[in-house]
Amino acid sequence: MSFLENIRDFAGKAATALLRNRRASAHTGLPEVMPRHVAIVMDGNGRWAKSRNMPRSAGHSVGVETLRDIIRACDDWGIEALSIYAFSTENWQRPKAEVDTLMGLLLQYFMSEIDELDEKNVRILIIGDVEGLPAPQREAVKKAMDRTGGNTGLKLNIALNYGGRQELVNAAKKLMKMAVEGEIAPERLDEGMFSDYLYTRGLPDVDLFIRTSGEMRTSNFLPWQTAYAEMVFNPVMWPDYTRQVFLDDLWVYASRDRRFGKVKS
Ligand code: IPE
Ligand code: IPE
Ligand code: MG
Repeated sequence: MSFLENIRDFAGKAATALLRNRRASAHTGLPEVMPRHVAIVMDGNGRWAKSRNMPRSAGHSVGVETLRDIIRACDDWGIEALSIYAFSTENWQRPKAEVDTLMGLLLQYFMSEIDELDEKNVRILIIGDVEGLPAPQREAVKKAMDRTGGNTGLKLNIALNYGGRQELVNAAKKLMKMAVEGEIAPERLDEGMFSDYLYTRGLPDVDLFIRTSGEMRTSNFLPWQTAYAEMVFNPVMWPDYTRQVFLDDLWVYASRDRRFGKVKS
């Protein structure tokens, strides 16, 4: 064998071994321990597109397809609540063309998906400042919430114009106003009451927080609700995140030892 052939042979074997390992790590069934509430920061659309010499908008379009698959998976697997980060209060600082693309996709999304979501008994809740959205988007999301508000299946929370600190400040403002007006006594405020003034009122805390694209930060997503969440930072870019990768992340979650400050009995 020549030097070059040797290298090729080695590379081929290494690639086969890698693939085999990957397949071996791929689970087929659901773990016994499942999260009730999953939160996902769908990140990496831009880098996915850039690595393929495509415009960032192409990454966002494919990202919408991914979202469809993951929602279907949550529905199939009986997950109670899914919260997805679609647009942050900070995202307004992106170039206008990109903001316009994202807002356009949002409209398209509600037009193309609402029938299937409603049929699947999904309840859509927009978390974030809906009033701060442009009029057509505001109307579309309000219509979607009205139409699915009585549904009893998957609770799908779409974070739009969402900022975690803003959510906390808003809750504090409402409570302060009530206290000033003598409706509640400050001593009565506790964690349970405070959560009732958040967008996620009535939902269980986030059990599993997933962020794609390898970034290891929460970027102001659900700071209160994720206080005890298990964090999974997956290097896969959102457009490449499949139902199988999601399943693998559920197995990672199931392998975690959640102690909540206690010692293991
Ligand atoms: C996430 O992908 C989508 C939104 C923030 C709307 P990005 O657009 O942040 O993609 P990267 O992080 O630049 O790759
Ligand atoms: C977080 O991603 C927001 C969404 C996924 C909608 P970003 O890409 O905007 O966050 P940073 O800039 O990396 O913190
Ligand atoms: Mg990003």
